[in-house]
Amino acid sequence: MPKVTLLPGGQSAEVPAGTLLLDAGEEAGVEMEAGCFNCSCGTCAIAVDSGMENLEPPTDEELNVLDQWNKDPDKYRLTCCVKVLQGEVVLRLEH
Ligand code: FES
Repeated sequence: MPKVTLLPGGQSAEVPAGTLLLDAGEEAGVEMEAGCFNCSCGTCAIAVDSGMENLEPPTDEELNVLDQWNKDPDKYRLTCCVKVLQGEVVLRLEH
């Protein structure tokens, strides 16, 4: 199963493929910041330290929101709209 780790705390969870990053973080016991749960507000933006290739590619909707927040889509994703597909993913909480 894919594994999602959250820094700086280092909590992690193994989750089924297709799990939202938001849910994976909660599964790891981390309180994840989120607002709309609908890929439109940007509150849930999170840095991806590694494993970007193991995530679903961004939709136009996600790219628009990241752009509004000046977040580079090569480094940041929205946890409420991205599913983990495979392998290991390391996220970094910045707030
Ligand atoms: S919670 Fe609003 S974009 Fe993710």
